[in-house]
Amino acid sequence: MARILITSAIPYINGIKHLGNLVGSQLPADLYARFMRGRGHEVLFLCATDEHGTPAELAAAKAGKPVEEFCAGMHAVQKGIADGFRLSFDHFGRSSSQRNHRLTQHFAGKLAENGLIEEVSEKQVFSVADNRFLPDRYIEGTCPNCGYDRARGDQCENCTKQLDPTDLITPRSAISGSTDLEVRETRHLYLRQRALRDRLEAWIDSKTDWPILTTSIARKWLKDGEGLQDRGITRDLHWGVPVRKGDQPWPGMEGKVFYVWFDAPIEYIACAAEWADANGLAEADWERWWRTDKGAADVRYVQFMGKDNVPFHTLSFPATIMGSGEPWKLVDYIKSFNYLNYDGGQFSTSQGRGVFMDQALSILPADYWRWWLLSHAPENADSEFTWENFQASVNKDLADVLGNLVSRVTKFAASKLGAAVPAGGAFGPQETALIADLGARLRDYEALMAAMDIRKAAAELRGIWVAGNEYLQAAAPWSALKTDPARAEVIVRLSLNLIRVYAILSRPFIPDAAATMMTAMGSADWTWPDHIGEALRALPPGHAFTVPENLFRKITDEERADWQQRFSGVRG
Ligand code: MF3
Ligand code: ZN
Repeated sequence: MARILITSAIPYINGIKHLGNLVGSQLPADLYARFMRGRGHEVLFLCATDEHGTPAELAAAKAGKPVEEFCAGMHAVQKGIADGFRLSFDHFGRSSSQRNHRLTQHFAGKLAENGLIEEVSEKQVFSVADNRFLPDRYIEGTCPNCGYDRARGDQCENCTKQLDPTDLITPRSAISGSTDLEVRETRHLYLRQRALRDRLEAWIDSKTDWPILTTSIARKWLKDGEGLQDRGITRDLHWGVPVRKGDQPWPGMEGKVFYVWFDAPIEYIACAAEWADANGLAEADWERWWRTDKGAADVRYVQFMGKDNVPFHTLSFPATIMGSGEPWKLVDYIKSFNYLNYDGGQFSTSQGRGVFMDQALSILPADYWRWWLLSHAPENADSEFTWENFQASVNKDLADVLGNLVSRVTKFAASKLGAAVPAGGAFGPQETALIADLGARLRDYEALMAAMDIRKAAAELRGIWVAGNEYLQAAAPWSALKTDPARAEVIVRLSLNLIRVYAILSRPFIPDAAATMMTAMGSADWTWPDHIGEALRALPPGHAFTVPENLFRKITDEERADWQQRFSGVRG
């Protein structure tokens, strides 16, 4: 059995994510983790909140809370929502943890030892009223190009011109509105990524099996000219990991913190340590996932993320790892995603457009969302959520195909043949044909899931459900019961067994329905059905079962119209 380390891009702390964020990282990572566990592999699945940076500070200020308190509260909120979606993290950590502080400082120290850190003096805008340096995007003013009066220091939203804060006419702080701004000198640390360019390029070139989306973004950033730049890894902020060289102070860097994009990916490692701490495990227990000198050489490490995160994971974080000169694990496979659009436009966190994770769970259970999102994952192109499509997919795939099969079989069996698996005789030609068909489909499903080919895997799973429905329809136990009761018993025996097998196969997509099916079949045997013929004999004659509640309900046209209306505007 293999060991598989899985991480999802860690969500920012400052707000609740929308469904587009979910389907681009956490949800497909969960699907893969569940599948690999189901196959009997040893999995460590990690996620965390990304808690540092100016947006977190500002969100806390807006909420009128100290930033530590705000982050602790939002971490609990995000954890609750993740549980609601049944995201099966082994640990949901925090980038503000002491583990991450120490590891981030450790990496910076190693990079400095290896000559990969440069100290640079630069000029930056300081707001006297706010008593802080302002990142470019927190300076506003009039665009010199088009006259738009709310242009940001990095770009004008109106005419899209790239700007420098000093280009703005009458610049002001976006935080307080104050125009009392000064340009001050400040020193920062730069990571000399360009020194690692060749190593990074050779490493990317060796990843011939990666999705094109991943490698094409990495290659674009590696190109000379516009390409890989040395990168500032410190900021003049209060909230963050204090700049230290390992466990030593860093002269000249007092009062500064590391840039959020420097410490956030290091949290992937720190999170494993937090997991060990939370479970009373030893250092060696997490290091065997991360240190190639301590057992991680045979770990397969897979990351999931949206395409906007790819440069940080293909170049910046690997530069940190490589530059440390220490035997930390590099990622083996990066599954990246395009964007999910919302009903003719884009999901937007700033405008509150679309359905956010908490809202989604308030109207329907997790499985409905999981099924739609995964079966429409934006893998090869952007995809779009529409309420019509969502309704059709839920009503057809979940209610008509899977839900209906389970309900027909269990209700018929219980009312006509009693609350236990009937005996009948041997399987006939229809059963043999079904077993052959399902066997082939199952191998296909396994291969697609292992390859993280998510939409196709969902389509194959649906095909597996449909095959069961067609078998039931053709075998027609309700007719056989009148002419040949033993034959009806065989069909029902197989069909009840089929429900247990479907529970196992469907669990990565729809874990709650899977649990209901398994419980109704009076079983807790989740062993992967390597041999479908044997798996369909697992529940023997006489084994008790129950009729479950309806697995899925249909979405009505009224509900659809109501939700469409409710989520069209700005989040209240
Ligand atoms: N917080 C970032 C986002 O939501 C992702 C950070 S991923 C990590 O886009 F690698 F930095 F951890
Ligand atoms: Zn402009």
